[in-house]
Amino acid sequence: MSSSSLMMSCLFLLLCLLCEGREILVGGKSNTWKVPESTEETLNSWSERTRFKIGDSLLWKYNAENDSVMQVSQKDYERCDRSEPIIGYKDGHTKVELNRSGPFYFISGEDGHCHRGEKLHVVVLSPNHNRSYAADAPPLTSPDTKDKGSSDHVLINQAQRSVATACFLALLHIPLAFLV
Ligand SMILES: *[C@@H]1O[C@H](CO)[C@@H](O)[C@H](O)[C@H]1NC(C)=O
Ligand SMILES: *[C@@H]1O[C@H](CO)[C@@H](O)[C@H](O)[C@H]1NC(C)=O
Ligand SMILES: *[C@@H]1O[C@H](CO)[C@@H](O)[C@H](O)[C@H]1NC(C)=O
Repeated sequence: MSSSSLMMSCLFLLLCLLCEGREILVGGKSNTWKVPESTEETLNSWSERTRFKIGDSLLWKYNAENDSVMQVSQKDYERCDRSEPIIGYKDGHTKVELNRSGPFYFISGEDGHCHRGEKLHVVVLSPNHNRSYAADAPPLTSPDTKDKGSSDHVLINQAQRSVATACFLALLHIPLAFLV
């Protein structure tokens, strides 16, 4: 890898670690909030591939004349029940902040659309979710390490710090490489 591409990767990584609150277009591109054409191409297959963090926002762009967005409970999402939405939007440019961890459920507010698959289920990861814990945790046979108050959150921050430090060191070395 050349030093400039290394530098770009490092800057990109650092930006990713620093950036908070992305704005995520629903479906990853425009014109996705509609009755899906096939059962394979649903918004949920997109949302399963996407990592959502607290502070991110979802953005829907659609034609306000013939569509809308409703945030609903899990029960209403499953039944496509539009009678008691948590909140409804019909502005063609709907932005919802994912301000907590856990699941969020959205359906189209138009008659019949949800039943035909126009719905979205998003899960926001908890800041101290268990994935890194499972990878980094000591074996269960050493109970005394449990009392040191090391939380998953700390482990993640340590991982972020070491990536940032490695990148910073790499950046410092690039000018030296040019001198040699
Ligand atoms: C909504 O209207 C737009 C343009 O007016 C059209 O292209 C689109 O197919 C309509 N969508 C539905 C679900 O009727
Ligand atoms: C998230 O935002 C919604 C709508 O603005 C609000 O009702 C809710 O209390 C917020 N939740 C948290 C955990 O801040
Ligand atoms: C992580 O997993 C442990 C047990 O495996 C559980 O007790 C804890 O509640 C989990 N924490 C989170 C944030 O899910």
